[in-house]
Amino acid sequence: MAIVLITGANRGIGLEFVRQYAADGWKVIATCRRQKKAKELEQVNGDVTVRELEVTDLKSVAAFVAAVDGSPVDVLINNAGVYLDRNDEFGELDFEKWARSFEVNAIAPMRLAEALLPCVAGSKRKLMVFMSTQMASIADNTGGRAYAYRASKAALNAAVHSLSIDLKPQGIACLLLHPGWVRTEMGGKNATLDVRDSVHGMRRVIDGFGIDRTGSFLRHNGEPIPW
Ligand SMILES: NC(=O)c1ccc[n+]([C@@H]2O[C@H](COP(=O)([O-])OP(=O)(O)OC[C@H]3O[C@@H](n4cnc5c(N)ncnc54)[C@H](OP(=O)(O)O)[C@@H]3O)[C@@H](O)[C@H]2O)c1
Repeated sequence: MAIVLITGANRGIGLEFVRQYAADGWKVIATCRRQKKAKELEQVNGDVTVRELEVTDLKSVAAFVAAVDGSPVDVLINNAGVYLDRNDEFGELDFEKWARSFEVNAIAPMRLAEALLPCVAGSKRKLMVFMSTQMASIADNTGGRAYAYRASKAALNAAVHSLSIDLKPQGIACLLLHPGWVRTEMGGKNATLDVRDSVHGMRRVIDGFGIDRTGSFLRHNGEPIPW
């Protein structure tokens, strides 16, 4: 049975990944910051192990990695993320939000990828997925604003592209995904995509993704996004 590990799994896109993989018979390791509050996650049927993980807290990461204990992880989905500066204007930038955005969106996924490398390397599928965003694309940026969010996710893209080159000899593939504009707490009510359709599409992309395309930056429907 294939094993998927998903961060930020108590709501939104992460929770939907858990639901769909569990329904498909995968063994799921799902993380959240506070298990007691993750009621919907606890209720998902299937082979789901819920563990606490604050992705920016070194002690929490160490305790989590110890609990996983080197067991194989076929697909690691670094999904947890924040969009803190959506309403901020140039002239009043909040650089604490910048620091937090980089911690959560860029540094934490790389730290977890490093810590869980043996688990992914020891699996059959050997795939690391990183939740990026079209807003990280410099070529595609016609809207401006969202400096911290865009910059932190663009940093993630740069780091993961490097990682894809470095891990290729071990047969480990890295994939940067844009889920579309999705109706979640982050995406808001006006978003164009239902979370089920977004995750369904991303799972198709993940299923068909191999080492030959490692380092790609793709939409939920598999189309490439310009860097
Ligand atoms: N929705 C969209 O339209 C959209 C578009 C492009 C990209 N994305 C990306 O897709 C991913 C998921 O987005 P979403 O829409 O599902 O967002 P969401 O509804 O806001 O959920 C975010 C998840 O990340 C978790 N999280 C945030 N900071 C964390 C931390 N420090 N440690 C551990 N977990 C943390 C949250 O946990 P808590 O509940 O504890 O806060 C929550 O589970 C994000 O990386 C986002 O940037 C989303």
